[in-house]
Amino acid sequence: MKSRWWKEAVAYQIYPRSFYDSNGDGIGDLKGIIEKLDYLKEFGVDVLWVNPIYQSPNDDNGYDISDFYAIMDEFGTMDDFENLLKEVHNRGMKIIPDLVVNHTSDEHEWFMESRSSKDSPYRDYYIWHPGKPDGSLPNNWESFFGGSVWQYDEQTEEYYMHIFSKKQPDLNWENAEVRDKLYEMVNWWLDKGIDGFRVDAITHIKKIDGFPDLPNPQNRKFVQSNAGHANQPGIDVFLSEFVERTVKNYDVMTVGEAGGATFENARHWVDQDKGYFDMIFQFEHLGLWKADDGSLDIDALRTAMSKWQTGLEGKGWNALFLENHDQPRSVSTWGNDKDLRKTSAKALATFYFLMQGTPFIYQGQEIGMTNVRFDSIDEYSDSGIVNLYEYETGNGRTHEEMMKYIWKNGRDNSRTPMQWSSEPQAGFTTGTPWFGVNPNYPDINVEESVNNPDSIYHYYKKLIELRKDLPALIYGKYELIAKEHSQVYAYLRKYKEECYAVIVNLLDEETDFYLQDGLTCENLLLSNYSREDVLGSAMHLQPFEARVYKVMNQSN
Ligand code: GLC
Ligand code: CA
Repeated sequence: MKSRWWKEAVAYQIYPRSFYDSNGDGIGDLKGIIEKLDYLKEFGVDVLWVNPIYQSPNDDNGYDISDFYAIMDEFGTMDDFENLLKEVHNRGMKIIPDLVVNHTSDEHEWFMESRSSKDSPYRDYYIWHPGKPDGSLPNNWESFFGGSVWQYDEQTEEYYMHIFSKKQPDLNWENAEVRDKLYEMVNWWLDKGIDGFRVDAITHIKKIDGFPDLPNPQNRKFVQSNAGHANQPGIDVFLSEFVERTVKNYDVMTVGEAGGATFENARHWVDQDKGYFDMIFQFEHLGLWKADDGSLDIDALRTAMSKWQTGLEGKGWNALFLENHDQPRSVSTWGNDKDLRKTSAKALATFYFLMQGTPFIYQGQEIGMTNVRFDSIDEYSDSGIVNLYEYETGNGRTHEEMMKYIWKNGRDNSRTPMQWSSEPQAGFTTGTPWFGVNPNYPDINVEESVNNPDSIYHYYKKLIELRKDLPALIYGKYELIAKEHSQVYAYLRKYKEECYAVIVNLLDEETDFYLQDGLTCENLLLSNYSREDVLGSAMHLQPFEARVYKVMNQSN
């Protein structure tokens, strides 16, 4: 039986390659994580989600696994992992590795066997298909990393499917033997004593029958292919079997990555009685920029967030996040990473952290790390970016256009090494880092943030403490207020007799705000401006000002 301990937890995401390098080879590693556990404990987080650490040729930084039962050499050994697990538990924290089961590396032995012959017992572990009679690709589906999802393989003269890079062939979940092997592997890790998983790309394990061409009204070479493989009918059969045979039998936490899922079709995934995951990462709240001026569409944001907040009340649980290793830095996209970097980072923190759900903080978010701009594509690492760049420039887009796109949206923005101090290479390594450090590290780093009481780090710490002190901020009901305000996102958290108001100006301009009739501010608990004595219902908010109040609710 599950105890649902994860509702009270605060989670922190570690991208191991960029977190801390313990041996000077320029690559973050497991011993490096161990060295920083005291920092994380002191910060106040409870659960560590660690991106893939398995053996991998690193085409997609570990999301291309060649051996599920071994640790990537660059990260250390299985002994190092056991040590990490022990050290995490010794500090009263928990750890959830990434679980990647939609695909493997093309260097996994299953795939090497599979591609060797049409008669191989492993042939059906992956998705093979002949070309169309005229010799063209099996269909028009586009891979997430640009180009077709199909890769021709000369040895057997067929195509295999890869919805990510061509070094990440998709596993064939229709094959029961594949599923058996995966569950066996999942249980092997659970038996080691890990505390759950973040489950990668899980919406994509079911492909529609027959792999038909998708509608292509604009007559493009390939079409975005979610309609062929994201949350498709039949996936529930796989998911419920996965749960029954693995995680259900352990007191662990699972968070599924649910790209392409909407509230309407994925809410039942997190149903507390019949769901498949304790929570999911859904993406409906990201990328809501207005078409005309690129500013944040606050109405759309309110709708997206509130749908999940109210929709899951008493029925399921949310995972709260703004950043991860696939997203640009929030302070650069949502905030103002120039003169209001600290203020806007704190506002964003307040906005998402106090909703109902388990909040996740991505490494570096707690010190307000920003996007990065490298001039040449050669300075980038993410195969998603590099493949897309090659594909698009090969099809007529200019270098300038693509770099602009990458600076704004590229996943590498969040993968630059963690900025620990103002020492060379941001204190991340004593060697040459595997990927460029953001040149702003002399100003933005952990050492500075820990020593400066006014830092983003200390603000997050207060948020964590508030959430631990006040059950209302964990269990309380979410209620959207000021539904029409053009730039303030405001909501209440209500629990028993208590009520709290979270008020965040999400834009770079001042504004007036009125706390609705029936609510009286009792006590200002937190703000990102120095404020005293601001208890009236009418308030004038500075750019990106955030306030958290305890309020008296006469209408209760
Ligand atoms: C997920 C991961 C991403 C990876 C992809 C393929 O979206 O978060 O980093 O590239 O799956 O595994
Ligand atoms: Ca290292």
